[in-house]
Amino acid sequence: MLSDAQITSFWKNGFLALEAITTAGEIEAMRAIYDDLFEQGVGRDSEDRIDLASQEGREVLPQILRPSKYVPQLAETQLRANARAIAAQLLGEDTEFVADHAIRKPGGHGVETPWHQDEAYWDPALAFEALSIWVPLQEATLENGCMQFLPGIPEDVVPHHHIDEDPEVAGLVVDDWNVDAAVACPLPVGGATVHHCRTLHYTGANKTDTPRRAYILVFRRPPATRAEPRDFYWLDAA
Ligand code: NI
Repeated sequence: MLSDAQITSFWKNGFLALEAITTAGEIEAMRAIYDDLFEQGVGRDSEDRIDLASQEGREVLPQILRPSKYVPQLAETQLRANARAIAAQLLGEDTEFVADHAIRKPGGHGVETPWHQDEAYWDPALAFEALSIWVPLQEATLENGCMQFLPGIPEDVVPHHHIDEDPEVAGLVVDDWNVDAAVACPLPVGGATVHHCRTLHYTGANKTDTPRRAYILVFRRPPATRAEPRDFYWLDAA
């Protein structure tokens, strides 16, 4: 469970770094399942397997959406139960699990995930209070692409565009933002970061020769329809 100081810090800074959300043993078991999913090409027939940063066939930032749909035991982990409890502490008891996803940065050529807000990908007609719990399946370091955050929760989504200005590329980048105050969050095995859906965040390229595996769980309050519509024109360009 989070302390009051951690809850206050989350709402002030938009993120938390947790040394332990589950055991190293559970993470090791999940790592084998995770690597199997990527090696078997799971999701390729259903658009659950995408590359966030390339459309040219070479995978530089491969992602599997909803891996627990393919391996139900991922939903039975201590990690899932602890993540659910943390999300409910931060967002309230009516918090719901939205989805999990897996992003694997290959060793040697895994590119950066540029600065963005997660909510920039979502329906602009809805009002969100949501968070993501980012769990590395090995140590996370600056060299392999640990999470970095810009402290603070912007009141709304700021303008984004597609990576390389190419609407065929799935990934989004914030247009213009000062990220000098970025905070990097290296983590041990079993650790996690938690971030709000409007917190700006980034991971660097993987400069090591082994994959950087991240497993992400998204939770939210049931979203309401916004009174004021927003225009996420960058989503129309796809
Ligand atoms: Ni993100």
